[in-house]
Amino acid sequence: MSIEKNFDIPFVAAQALREKQIQQNYRPIIAVHKWFARRPGTLFRALILSEFGSQPVGDSFFQANSFPDKRIADPFMGGGTPLIEANRVGCDVQGFDINPMASWIVREEIEHLDLVSYESEAATLLKNLTSELDALYRTDCPLYGDEGLPVKYFIWVKEIDCEACGEAVSLFPGFLLSQDARHPLNVLICGDCGGLSEVADTRHPGSCKSCNATLSVAGPAKRGVCVCPKCGRANAYPRAHQGVPRHRLVAIEYYNPARMRQHRGRFFKKPDAKDIERYRLAEKRWASLSPRFVPDQSILPGDETDRLHRWGYKRYRDLFNPRQLLGLEFSARLIAKVKDQRIRYALSTNLSDLLRYQNMLCRYDSMALKSLDIFSVHGFPVGLIQCESNLLGIVNGNGINVGSGGWMNIINKYATAKRYCHEPFEVRKEGRSNSRVPIKGEWIGERLNGAATRKVSIRCASSTTLKLPEASLDAVFTDPPYFGNVQYGELMDFCYVWLRRLVGQEVEGFDRESTRAKDELTANETEGRDLEHFANGLSAVYRAMARALKPGAPLVFTFHHNKLEAYEAVGVAILDAGLTCSASIPCPAEMGGSIHIHGTGSSIIDTVLVCRSTGVTARNTLFDTPADLVRLVASDLKHLRAAGVSPTAGDIRCIVFGHVTRMAVWTLRAAWNADHSIKDKLERFAQQLSTFGNLASVIERAESCSKNPQAVKNRHAAGKEMERARHAISV
Ligand SMILES: C[S@@+](CC[C@H](N)C(=O)[O-])C[C@H]1O[C@@H](n2cnc3c(N)ncnc32)[C@H](O)[C@@H]1O
Repeated sequence: MSIEKNFDIPFVAAQALREKQIQQNYRPIIAVHKWFARRPGTLFRALILSEFGSQPVGDSFFQANSFPDKRIADPFMGGGTPLIEANRVGCDVQGFDINPMASWIVREEIEHLDLVSYESEAATLLKNLTSELDALYRTDCPLYGDEGLPVKYFIWVKEIDCEACGEAVSLFPGFLLSQDARHPLNVLICGDCGGLSEVADTRHPGSCKSCNATLSVAGPAKRGVCVCPKCGRANAYPRAHQGVPRHRLVAIEYYNPARMRQHRGRFFKKPDAKDIERYRLAEKRWASLSPRFVPDQSILPGDETDRLHRWGYKRYRDLFNPRQLLGLEFSARLIAKVKDQRIRYALSTNLSDLLRYQNMLCRYDSMALKSLDIFSVHGFPVGLIQCESNLLGIVNGNGINVGSGGWMNIINKYATAKRYCHEPFEVRKEGRSNSRVPIKGEWIGERLNGAATRKVSIRCASSTTLKLPEASLDAVFTDPPYFGNVQYGELMDFCYVWLRRLVGQEVEGFDRESTRAKDELTANETEGRDLEHFANGLSAVYRAMARALKPGAPLVFTFHHNKLEAYEAVGVAILDAGLTCSASIPCPAEMGGSIHIHGTGSSIIDTVLVCRSTGVTARNTLFDTPADLVRLVASDLKHLRAAGVSPTAGDIRCIVFGHVTRMAVWTLRAAWNADHSIKDKLERFAQQLSTFGNLASVIERAESCSKNPQAVKNRHAAGKEMERARHAISV
């Protein structure tokens, strides 16, 4: 079988779409550690089964499969999705990534772990941390008079001194702490006294229950200016020259299980003197420590990190408050004492992942009423209101986690992830419910019950310089960087500087001070990396992969980008590698509601490009007129809609870009000269793309074939964007 013949778009799209709604329910393995833009595991499973299996993918998907004679590589392994799917069905796997955090994480995912020992060490860690720190995460309930209850979240606001009168000015962008979605009423903070008032209608919030001042939803801080409430001076922020931003504790959400029956909704309070005192105590304890594990590295300039500099954050440790630093330092000290290296590494990975929630860049989601971790978007946005989670975590009487961002959450997720390695499952939709189908016989790892049966090689290396044995691979499944979409090195340094301090520099790649690398295949203004850099690098990797592939074996990868120029680089890389593109398949790969996607107009649909040195292409996927292209795209849309996807204009654009890239490769292949300069090759490819006519009009026509009202609504915007996109020349 082959992907071209066996892949089932509606079936796979439905699986992938459901997976992306709650990826942890489908692929718990991802909870080992955060990685950015993980593609759906269900998609890669389906690709592997379509290529190597002998049954229709809809059948083999829910059965155990085994391909022990297949050797697979992923040159851009990131969080390891393709590699893990291949390993799970028994293939030998080789993964590479330039980022040492990626190779660390994939090793953690795949390497065998004695779960009983892990859980016992994790329990000891928690016990010791609790005895040291628990008192710092307690509060009293002003509603019922109960004392010493666990805090879920501390809410902080940034504060500056008025440059005219010296008054402390709180930078409230708004005063709404909680909306009336998960809590019965809206909770507003009073701008005068800081008291909390519950109001039914935010358009008429009325007056503060504590001081009678008029309540407001809008806050005084807007677009870098905040008016002093005392003297009226308009103060500008941020003020990098004054150093790290100052914060003031303004609210607490806590947990009071004994009062759940008589109380509706969550428990919020204005901090009292004891709460402030507890924080002061944490500050004092932190000041008296000589930290051994808190990193002191500077934050290097970068496309994403410059924003931190603009706010006065110079070192990574500046992103944490003293209570967080105290808790993290204690955690690291306890982990460093664990004798068993495998368990120590697992707990170190947990600490690294915990950092996401234990820093002063986390925000409080006033609708979902939970902490949004630092990586909920792929950057470092600095908010004005920050959320500090309980470092220990909370569980209810049934052992279920309450709130997010604590050690208990992380340990629980990690144990679930590693359990899944031994007991993988798929989720099948049956009517309106989902059922878990255990896939007995499959497993993730390099050994099961002590027996070494699979080859796993995970390397931290740039794939641009790889030399793999010729004709040694049965397939390459990968997910390359999408041009400039995610700055992997800049972002991952946030965790790396801590992890490196804890596990040392012996680990492969950890001799580097930073995970940034000049050969990272991302566009980056600060580093002067542009389209040519991306195209050259991708071309080098694909050439290395093509040499290593057996004749006719596929190089399969996912891609999406809003700009056509990113596809020029992809096309050049395929052609330089001497491959042709035999299929371009759409599949959902993101969730429209994701915080980093929502409202950006980005596509949630990836194109899967299947490339081979020799192979067969379905005749009906070839086109040379815009009308034929419209027909193809309309057919993809029909399949996607059958799977429950509502394609947006952005999605349609990416589907179109995928098809024209495939056809341009097809057309140019015979006369392609890989020795020309990268500039010439990009131009040649762009020229070929332009022969497919006015793509804006293709999108528009495909849209009108589509019945999706959202797509029609976005038509105008997409058309305009297309005009701006390069090379969309009319017929
Ligand atoms: C889109 S991500 C892969 C995501 C992954 N498939 C997953 O599911 O998590 C692309 C990866 O390419 C890596 N990368 C970028 N340039 C590279 C290079 N020159 N060599 C190897 N890896 C590179 C990045 O570090 C990043 O992890």
